Amino acid sequence: MPTVVSVLNQKGGSGKSTLTTNLAHAFEMEGHSAEILDGDSQRTVTEWGKLASKAMPTVTPTTAPTVEEDAEAAPSSVVFIDGAPAHDTLNVRAMKLSDLVLIPVRASGPDVWSSEDLLGSIQTRRDQTGEPRAAFVVSQQIARTNLASEIGDVLDTYSLPTLEERTNHRVAYAEALSSGTTVLDMPGAKKAEDEIRRIAQQSLQLLRRTDE
Ligand SMILES: Nc1ncnc2c1ncn2[C@@H]1O[C@H](COP(=O)(O)OP(=O)(O)OP(=O)(O)O)[C@@H](O)[C@H]1O
Ligand SMILES: [Mg+2]
Repeated sequence: MPTVVSVLNQKGGSGKSTLTTNLAHAFEMEGHSAEILDGDSQRTVTEWGKLASKAMPTVTPTTAPTVEEDAEAAPSSVVFIDGAPAHDTLNVRAMKLSDLVLIPVRASGPDVWSSEDLLGSIQTRRDQTGEPRAAFVVSQQIARTNLASEIGDVLDTYSLPTLEERTNHRVAYAEALSSGTTVLDMPGAKKAEDEIRRIAQQSLQLLRRTDE
Protein backbone atom coordinates (compact mmCIF):
# COMPACT_ATOMS: atom_id res chain seq x y z
CA MET A 1 0.00 0.00 0.00
CA PRO A 2 1.42 3.43 -0.87
CA THR A 3 1.53 6.14 1.78
CA VAL A 4 -1.90 7.81 1.75
CA VAL A 5 -2.45 11.52 2.42
CA SER A 6 -6.08 12.68 2.38
CA VAL A 7 -7.12 16.31 2.16
CA LEU A 8 -10.51 16.52 3.80
CA ASN A 9 -13.06 19.08 4.99
CA GLN A 10 -16.72 18.87 4.11
CA LYS A 11 -16.84 22.65 3.90
CA GLY A 12 -16.89 23.66 0.24
CA GLY A 13 -14.13 25.96 -0.92
CA SER A 14 -11.85 25.42 2.07
CA GLY A 15 -8.90 24.78 -0.25
CA LYS A 16 -8.79 20.97 -0.57
CA SER A 17 -8.20 20.71 -4.31
CA THR A 18 -5.66 23.53 -4.28
CA LEU A 19 -3.69 21.90 -1.49
CA THR A 20 -3.95 18.45 -3.08
CA THR A 21 -2.62 19.44 -6.50
CA ASN A 22 0.18 21.65 -5.21
CA LEU A 23 1.30 19.26 -2.48
CA ALA A 24 1.25 16.21 -4.74
CA HIS A 25 3.58 17.99 -7.12
CA ALA A 26 5.75 19.28 -4.27
CA PHE A 27 6.14 15.69 -3.01
CA GLU A 28 7.26 14.68 -6.50
CA MET A 29 9.85 17.42 -6.47
CA GLU A 30 11.09 15.97 -3.17
CA GLY A 31 11.69 12.67 -4.96
CA HIS A 32 8.45 10.79 -4.19
CA SER A 33 6.18 9.51 -6.94
CA ALA A 34 2.68 10.85 -6.37
CA GLU A 35 -0.76 10.14 -7.75
CA ILE A 36 -4.05 11.89 -6.98
CA LEU A 37 -7.37 10.16 -6.41
CA ASP A 38 -10.22 12.59 -7.04
CA GLY A 39 -12.96 11.75 -4.56
CA ASP A 40 -15.11 14.78 -5.32
CA SER A 41 -18.02 14.18 -7.72
CA GLN A 42 -17.52 17.75 -9.01
CA ARG A 43 -14.24 16.35 -10.42
CA THR A 44 -12.33 19.61 -10.10
CA VAL A 45 -8.98 17.85 -9.92
CA THR A 46 -9.86 15.51 -12.77
CA GLU A 47 -10.51 18.57 -14.94
CA TRP A 48 -7.24 20.08 -13.68
CA GLY A 49 -5.51 16.83 -14.71
CA LYS A 50 -6.91 17.03 -18.23
CA LEU A 51 -5.24 20.41 -18.66
CA ALA A 52 -2.02 19.36 -16.96
CA SER A 53 1.25 18.43 -18.61
CA LYS A 54 2.85 15.01 -18.19
CA ALA A 55 5.08 16.47 -15.50
CA MET A 56 2.09 16.74 -13.15
CA PRO A 57 0.83 13.91 -10.94
CA THR A 58 -1.69 11.58 -12.60
CA VAL A 59 -5.31 12.03 -11.50
CA THR A 60 -7.76 9.14 -11.24
CA PRO A 61 -11.41 9.60 -10.24
CA THR A 62 -12.49 7.47 -7.28
CA THR A 63 -15.66 6.68 -5.33
CA ALA A 64 -16.44 5.38 -1.85
CA PRO A 65 -16.81 1.71 -2.91
CA THR A 66 -13.53 1.69 -4.84
CA VAL A 67 -11.24 4.10 -2.99
CA GLU A 68 -9.38 1.40 -1.07
CA GLU A 69 -8.59 -0.70 -4.14
CA ASP A 70 -7.79 2.45 -6.15
CA ALA A 71 -5.26 3.49 -3.50
CA GLU A 72 -3.75 -0.01 -3.36
CA ALA A 73 -3.49 -0.14 -7.15
CA ALA A 74 -1.75 3.21 -7.49
CA PRO A 75 1.71 2.74 -8.99
CA SER A 76 3.19 5.55 -6.87
CA SER A 77 4.83 5.80 -3.47
CA VAL A 78 2.32 8.40 -2.23
CA VAL A 79 -1.38 8.73 -2.99
CA PHE A 80 -3.21 11.98 -2.31
CA ILE A 81 -7.00 11.79 -1.95
CA ASP A 82 -8.98 14.96 -2.62
CA GLY A 83 -12.11 14.74 -0.51
CA ALA A 84 -15.72 15.64 -1.20
CA PRO A 85 -17.41 18.82 0.05
CA ALA A 86 -20.21 16.87 1.71
CA HIS A 87 -20.84 14.46 4.52
CA ASP A 88 -19.82 11.57 2.31
CA THR A 89 -18.82 7.95 2.91
CA LEU A 90 -15.84 8.62 0.63
CA ASN A 91 -14.35 10.98 3.20
CA VAL A 92 -14.69 8.46 6.03
CA ARG A 93 -13.19 5.65 3.94
CA ALA A 94 -10.33 7.90 2.81
CA MET A 95 -9.65 8.89 6.43
CA LYS A 96 -9.45 5.23 7.47
CA LEU A 97 -6.93 4.47 4.71
CA SER A 98 -4.78 7.46 5.50
CA ASP A 99 -1.40 7.78 7.09
CA LEU A 100 -1.99 11.53 7.27
CA VAL A 101 -5.15 13.65 7.00
CA LEU A 102 -4.71 17.33 6.21
CA ILE A 103 -7.70 19.55 7.02
CA PRO A 104 -7.58 22.89 5.23
CA VAL A 105 -9.56 25.60 7.02
CA ARG A 106 -10.04 29.18 5.98
CA ALA A 107 -9.47 31.71 8.71
CA SER A 108 -13.07 31.80 9.88
CA GLY A 109 -15.27 29.86 12.27
CA PRO A 110 -17.51 28.00 9.80
CA ASP A 111 -14.72 26.02 8.14
CA VAL A 112 -13.64 24.70 11.52
CA TRP A 113 -17.14 23.95 12.72
CA SER A 114 -17.94 22.01 9.58
CA SER A 115 -14.92 19.78 10.14
CA GLU A 116 -16.23 18.58 13.52
CA ASP A 117 -17.84 15.38 12.17
CA LEU A 118 -14.54 14.54 10.56
CA LEU A 119 -12.59 15.35 13.72
CA GLY A 120 -14.86 12.99 15.67
CA SER A 121 -14.27 10.18 13.16
CA ILE A 122 -10.51 10.77 13.22
CA GLN A 123 -10.44 10.67 17.02
CA THR A 124 -12.46 7.43 17.15
CA ARG A 125 -10.12 5.87 14.60
CA ARG A 126 -7.03 7.02 16.48
CA ASP A 127 -8.39 5.58 19.72
CA GLN A 128 -8.90 2.26 17.95
CA THR A 129 -5.74 2.02 15.83
CA GLY A 130 -3.40 4.90 16.72
CA GLU A 131 -3.73 6.27 13.17
CA PRO A 132 -4.13 8.42 11.13
CA ARG A 133 -1.98 11.38 11.94
CA ALA A 134 -3.87 14.58 11.18
CA ALA A 135 -3.30 18.32 11.13
CA PHE A 136 -5.11 21.53 10.26
CA VAL A 137 -3.68 23.74 7.52
CA VAL A 138 -4.82 27.36 7.55
CA SER A 139 -5.77 28.24 3.99
CA GLN A 140 -6.25 31.47 2.05
CA GLN A 141 -5.53 33.72 4.99
CA ILE A 142 -5.42 37.46 4.48
CA ALA A 143 -2.32 38.59 6.32
CA ARG A 144 -2.59 41.14 9.10
CA THR A 145 -6.32 40.63 9.63
CA ASN A 146 -7.90 39.73 12.95
CA LEU A 147 -9.29 36.55 11.42
CA ALA A 148 -5.80 35.43 10.42
CA SER A 149 -4.39 35.99 13.89
CA GLU A 150 -7.37 34.52 15.77
CA ILE A 151 -7.70 31.29 13.81
CA GLY A 152 -4.57 29.87 15.46
CA ASP A 153 -6.16 30.26 18.90
CA VAL A 154 -9.40 28.68 17.71
CA LEU A 155 -7.56 25.68 16.26
CA ASP A 156 -5.47 25.30 19.41
CA THR A 157 -8.65 24.40 21.29
CA TYR A 158 -8.84 21.16 19.26
CA SER A 159 -6.70 18.12 19.96
CA LEU A 160 -5.03 18.09 16.53
CA PRO A 161 -1.95 20.14 15.67
CA THR A 162 -1.96 22.96 13.12
CA LEU A 163 0.87 23.16 10.58
CA GLU A 164 3.06 26.16 11.22
CA GLU A 165 2.97 27.16 7.57
CA ARG A 166 -0.23 28.59 6.03
CA THR A 167 -1.31 29.54 2.56
CA ASN A 168 -2.08 33.19 2.07
CA HIS A 169 -4.73 34.41 -0.31
CA ARG A 170 -2.80 34.72 -3.57
CA VAL A 171 -4.15 34.82 -7.09
CA ALA A 172 -1.44 32.39 -8.24
CA TYR A 173 -3.25 29.54 -6.46
CA ALA A 174 -6.49 30.22 -8.32
CA GLU A 175 -4.67 30.62 -11.63
CA ALA A 176 -2.76 27.37 -11.16
CA LEU A 177 -5.88 25.34 -10.32
CA SER A 178 -7.75 26.62 -13.35
CA SER A 179 -4.89 26.09 -15.78
CA GLY A 180 -3.63 22.59 -14.99
CA THR A 181 -0.49 23.63 -13.20
CA THR A 182 0.81 24.40 -9.72
CA VAL A 183 2.35 27.43 -8.05
CA LEU A 184 5.66 25.53 -8.16
CA ASP A 185 5.67 25.87 -11.93
CA MET A 186 4.50 29.45 -12.35
CA PRO A 187 6.86 32.32 -12.92
CA GLY A 188 6.34 35.08 -10.39
CA ALA A 189 4.68 32.86 -7.76
CA LYS A 190 7.68 32.55 -5.46
CA LYS A 191 5.81 33.35 -2.25
CA ALA A 192 3.12 30.78 -2.93
CA GLU A 193 5.80 28.28 -3.97
CA ASP A 194 7.64 28.79 -0.68
CA GLU A 195 4.41 28.24 1.27
CA ILE A 196 3.71 24.97 -0.52
CA ARG A 197 7.28 23.73 -0.15
CA ARG A 198 7.16 24.38 3.59
CA ILE A 199 3.74 22.73 3.95
CA ALA A 200 5.17 19.73 2.08
CA GLN A 201 8.18 19.62 4.41
CA GLN A 202 5.97 19.80 7.49
CA SER A 203 3.68 17.08 6.11
CA LEU A 204 6.67 14.86 5.42
CA GLN A 205 7.88 15.42 8.97
CA LEU A 206 4.50 14.28 10.31
CA LEU A 207 4.66 11.21 8.08
CA ARG A 208 8.13 10.36 9.36
CA ARG A 209 7.12 10.57 13.00
CA THR A 210 6.13 7.20 14.37
CA ASP A 211 5.51 8.24 17.96
CA GLU A 212 2.21 10.10 17.38
N1 LIG B 1 -4.49 30.31 -1.07
C1 LIG B 1 -5.40 30.68 -1.98
N2 LIG B 1 -5.39 31.93 -2.49
C2 LIG B 1 -6.32 32.31 -3.40
N3 LIG B 1 -7.28 31.52 -3.87
C3 LIG B 1 -7.35 30.25 -3.40
C4 LIG B 1 -6.41 29.76 -2.44
N4 LIG B 1 -6.74 28.47 -2.16
C5 LIG B 1 -7.82 28.19 -2.91
N5 LIG B 1 -8.18 29.25 -3.65
C6 LIG B 1 -9.33 29.35 -4.57
O1 LIG B 1 -10.51 29.18 -3.78
C7 LIG B 1 -11.44 28.37 -4.46
C8 LIG B 1 -11.71 27.12 -3.62
O2 LIG B 1 -10.51 26.39 -3.52
P1 LIG B 1 -10.51 24.81 -3.77
O3 LIG B 1 -11.24 24.47 -5.02
O4 LIG B 1 -9.11 24.35 -3.62
O5 LIG B 1 -11.36 24.38 -2.49
P2 LIG B 1 -12.07 22.98 -2.24
O6 LIG B 1 -12.11 22.79 -0.78
O7 LIG B 1 -11.45 21.92 -3.06
O8 LIG B 1 -13.52 23.30 -2.80
P3 LIG B 1 -14.70 22.22 -3.01
O9 LIG B 1 -15.18 21.95 -1.63
O10 LIG B 1 -15.71 22.93 -3.85
O11 LIG B 1 -14.10 21.02 -3.64
C9 LIG B 1 -10.84 28.05 -5.82
O12 LIG B 1 -11.31 28.97 -6.76
C10 LIG B 1 -9.35 28.23 -5.60
O13 LIG B 1 -8.69 28.61 -6.78
MG1 LIG C 1 -12.28 20.55 -4.35
